[in-house]
Order: sequence, then C-alpha cells, then structure tokens
Amino acid sequence: MQQESNRLFRRGKTIAFVPTMGFLHEGHLALMREGRKHGDTLVISIFVNPTQFGPSEDFHTYPRDLDRDARLAETAGVDIVFAPEAEAMYDEGYQTYVDLDLLPRYLCGYSRPGHFRGVATVVAKLFNIVKPQVSLFGKKDYQQLVVIRRMARDLNIDVQILGVPTIREADGLAMSSRNNYLSQDERRSALSLFQSLEEAQRSVARGIKDAKQLIRGASELIGAHPYTKIDYVAVCDPETLDDVDLVDRPALMALAVWAGKTRLIDNIILTP
Ligand code: PAF
Repeated sequence: MQQESNRLFRRGKTIAFVPTMGFLHEGHLALMREGRKHGDTLVISIFVNPTQFGPSEDFHTYPRDLDRDARLAETAGVDIVFAPEAEAMYDEGYQTYVDLDLLPRYLCGYSRPGHFRGVATVVAKLFNIVKPQVSLFGKKDYQQLVVIRRMARDLNIDVQILGVPTIREADGLAMSSRNNYLSQDERRSALSLFQSLEEAQRSVARGIKDAKQLIRGASELIGAHPYTKIDYVAVCDPETLDDVDLVDRPALMALAVWAGKTRLIDNIILTP
C-alpha cells in the first residue's frame, strides 16, 4: 500500500481515504461517495483493529465479510481496498501508541478505557501507510472525529479531516454495524436514542437552555423504554468536550445507551 501511495504521489494524484472496520453499511458508503469528490484515487481500509477493543468487548464476534464489503466498495467508486492482517499492523515487538491527554477522558472514554488510544494509534498508522490528502469520518462517532482532528494537528500529519453527517434508517436509528446484534424489541427501544435527541433540540428551540434539564428529559425518555440502560447522556462543548451548563451557543448532546447487550451511541448539535 505504501509503494502504491508513493507511486500515485509521483504521478501527481491525490488520495482520499476512508478508514473502516468493514461490514459496510449505507453510512460507510456515504463516506465513500463523499470521498470520491475529494481525491483522484479513493482508498478505504478494512481492518478490525484489536487495540481499540477492551478485553470484554466484541472484537472476536465483530461482524466480518470481506467479499461482500469489496463488492459494495466497488459500487461506491472505491479504487483500492486495503485490508491488512492484524500481524502486519502489529508485529511481535510492537510497542508504540498514540495517546491524547484530555479528549479521551470524556464521554465514551469513561466506559471504554484505552479505546481512543487504539483508535488514534491505528489511524496514525493508516495515515502513514495510505498517505491521504483528505480523510473522511462519520459524525456519529463524534468523539472519534475530534480525537482524530486533534491527533493529526498535534502530530503535524498533513491531512485534511472531513466530518460527514450521520446516515439514519428511515425510522431515525443511526446506522451502525452493531445494529445487526439487535433483536426486534431491542431495536424498537433503540429508537429512543434519536427521539430523545430530537426532543432535546425541540426543547432548546422553545428556549430551554439548562443542560441538566435537557439531560434529565432525554434520560427519562430513554428510560421509559424496556431493554435500554443509559451509559451516559452529556451536553458539552463540541470541540473540547467539556460539559456545558447552558446551551446558549451550539453544544453537542451525546449519548451512549445499552439496548440489551449492544452499546449504541448517537449525538446531535443542539442549536439555540
Ligand atoms: O470508526 C471506525 O470504524 C474505527 O474506529 C476506525 C476509524 C476505522 C479505526 O479503527
């Protein structure tokens, strides 16, 4: 892949890059279609990255289907699918990690210690391998997007990071490879994630600014559904992820909720 990236560079071609863990869905395809507009060559990676999974998480059961993914990628105009083996990315003596000081302490960082260290590490490695000018990430994983922006800036990686809006099912559920784990009942309950975010935005539009009140409203709505267990509901600064007390300028409302055994995340920018 590095040789191919160098060859493209020598020919004056730009590279747009979408890193994924595969089991592609419409959300990934939207990133790819957008990526198509930003480079001469569109590269995606498919790599279920072991370093971003905790010991009790779903690394071994994470859905994988490379043949299907390759076919879908082709329909979205992808030129190169880079799908390395774990041993090629992390060989026996591997010992270098990218750790951010503050951003991983918020939101998902509480219940997923080490997750963003794994994400920042693999994305830095992928940037060094693929050498893109532009890379695209979904806003559904909002914290991941700000972590990667910060990491690229801090390490002077010469890549433009673009955030792409969340793609949803017709009923509002944010697309995720993990939606496959949901039973019908759990999936119905999972609709409360987006419903509660939309309700919070309606409250903000009616003039409610108190973050605690908005969090309480969302938590009650989600809690009223069977099969849900809240991990967190937070209202914070969209860049630093620090909690805010008042929504008197755009603020991120982010949440993580268990639907049965599946942990789902979603978010919205609340705009007064
Ligand atoms: O969002 C994902 O699928 C992963 O976290 C990423 C960015 C591909 C890194 O493994």
